[in-house]
Amino acid sequence: MIKGGNRLEGSVSVSGAKNSALKLMAAAILGDNKSILQGVPKIRDVFTMIEVLNRLGIKAEFKKEDQLVIDPSGNISCEASYDLISQMRASIVVLGPLLAKLGEARVAMPGGCNIGSRKIDLHLRGFELLGAQIDMGQGYIQAKADILVGATVTLAFPSVGATENLMMAAVKAKGITVIENAAREPEIIDLANFLNSMGADIEGAGTSSIKVQGVAALKGIKYQVIPDRIEAGTFLIAGAISRGDIIVKNACPEHLEMVLGKLRDSGFDIKEQDTGVRIIADKRAKAVDIATLPYPGFPTDLQAQMMALLSLADGTSVITENIFENRFVFVSEINKMGSNIRTQGQHAVIEGAERIKGACVRCPDLRAGAGLILAGLAAKGTTEVEEIGHVERGYENFEQKLSRLGADIQRVPEEMTEVAQSASECVGRSEKKG
Ligand code: UD1
Repeated sequence: MIKGGNRLEGSVSVSGAKNSALKLMAAAILGDNKSILQGVPKIRDVFTMIEVLNRLGIKAEFKKEDQLVIDPSGNISCEASYDLISQMRASIVVLGPLLAKLGEARVAMPGGCNIGSRKIDLHLRGFELLGAQIDMGQGYIQAKADILVGATVTLAFPSVGATENLMMAAVKAKGITVIENAAREPEIIDLANFLNSMGADIEGAGTSSIKVQGVAALKGIKYQVIPDRIEAGTFLIAGAISRGDIIVKNACPEHLEMVLGKLRDSGFDIKEQDTGVRIIADKRAKAVDIATLPYPGFPTDLQAQMMALLSLADGTSVITENIFENRFVFVSEINKMGSNIRTQGQHAVIEGAERIKGACVRCPDLRAGAGLILAGLAAKGTTEVEEIGHVERGYENFEQKLSRLGADIQRVPEEMTEVAQSASECVGRSEKKG
């Protein structure tokens, strides 16, 4: 429940990157002994991955604060079941390390998700080129290889997950693997740095050609996860939409170049500091056009948050979503708040409104949920955001962090929202239930 209108001020620290931590957790399977990951965010997706590892027979638990200890030295099972994989698609990245370590993996088909069909053909074709035999049946992917042999894999699209899965399968393969048209996200570099510290031999991560020379063994190590660039971007946009002045500590400006550029184009003052990034916002955003693209392009994971900001901009903006086909489901929710957004295929035309108003809205997915919360910060009146479980998947202590910056935001138990409804603070619910 958010009462809009407060100006956010002060500083906030970003947590470790979700999209890196999940892959490092899978990569830790490859070690002969335990690894300690520092800076792992305590979010729902991390707890799901802990459960995936535990069910595989790998001990994974938080020891101190944000230190996650993963011990893959026991008997490991090669099967990851549907009930867990279906909760979090990203758990498909255990396929590569299991195949490399055990010569075999049986992982449930993840299927689609709210933001799109999200195929895994590129992962599977890459494994086949390394010599694995892939069989599909009864909802499972079965991958087997007596020995994996290095090969050149050219990805038809620079898929983040496929690049990571293939890098992890290749680290112990015989000979050299080259991944061409590889994804270049900072999380790929983080994974390569982690694997190299464990004893792998990977060159070129962060470029579109990654070379992996297979090694015989990897050891467990202690490693610090990079800061979450999507969380950092979300807070910067929160600063912008609330016309605030905030410092986002730990934010890496070099991971956010395109995002900072677009915020500057919208008229905001961005200062890159040693400790993070400061945004000073005292006026309405100017309209800008955005196209989501693989890194270093504008991240699809910040598209909804940026759309919330642009729905209040002076002028008309166009957002083109090039990565996932269902990311505009958010539009019908934010339009309930009085924004004026039309979509056609992968394009959204956003006519900036002078103000938006509180409403009862529902999170369709993780990043759209964050976008709705940001919209609520700027809306007139009270916004009730339902199904925030999606947001808890990826943001650590989101409402506490926003509240410390001055937002009027509260987590409200389900039954309390009914009270709010009867007090007519929440509009649109009956429409949704119908
Ligand atoms: C990762 C991120 C996600 C982010 C996305 C793009 C994690 C846990 N998730 O997802 O937050 O939004 O990168 O930056 O790190 N594709 C295929 N075949 C494949 C693989 C992908 O067609 O085998 C397509 C997908 O359907 C999608 C596009 O490629 O349209 C991008 O997917 P990909 O880069 O693989 O994203 P994820 O790794 O799933």
